[in-house]
Amino acid sequence: MDFVSILMGSKSDYGVMEECEKTLKKFDVPFELIISSAHRSPQRTKEYIVDAENRGSKVFICAAGMAAHLAGAVSAMTTKPVIGVPMGGGALGGIDALLSTVQMPSGMPVGTVAVGKAGAINSAYLAMQILALTNSELAGKLAEDRVMKAKNVEIDSADIETLMK
Ligand code: RP5
Repeated sequence: MDFVSILMGSKSDYGVMEECEKTLKKFDVPFELIISSAHRSPQRTKEYIVDAENRGSKVFICAAGMAAHLAGAVSAMTTKPVIGVPMGGGALGGIDALLSTVQMPSGMPVGTVAVGKAGAINSAYLAMQILALTNSELAGKLAEDRVMKAKNVEIDSADIETLMK
């Protein structure tokens, strides 16, 4: 069965990556979430990627901070799409992780999303959009979500407009 793999470099990334998990759950998309580091547990990372691909993982989401090499290392091990989520924090506030994740050499792509919570949520949406290319039920749910988002903008605006009267 198709699923999404989420890898985090450290337990300390979970507070943010919980948002990714929540988003996938909202759409009933199967996923696995593990902690595995490019630096601290390279062998575990490699074994997981091979095993997950064999079991049906279609997209890899990789969250890491500081010298964030996890997404790049995973990209080296698979031709499935890899989405990198740079974690904030650290001495440079996430700029370090952003540049480490986004600046991949040619031919080894990592689709990089925003630093922190917005990126965690968008990584889930991007993974679902990839799965939805071959899953019309999921594509329908994503289209409904867009309609709801547009409606919410109108509701929020009406609330503000009422307050200003
Ligand atoms: C990265 O280093 C992790 O992804 C985390 O964002 C950062 C700090 O890790 P800890 O020292 O908190 O375990 O590998």
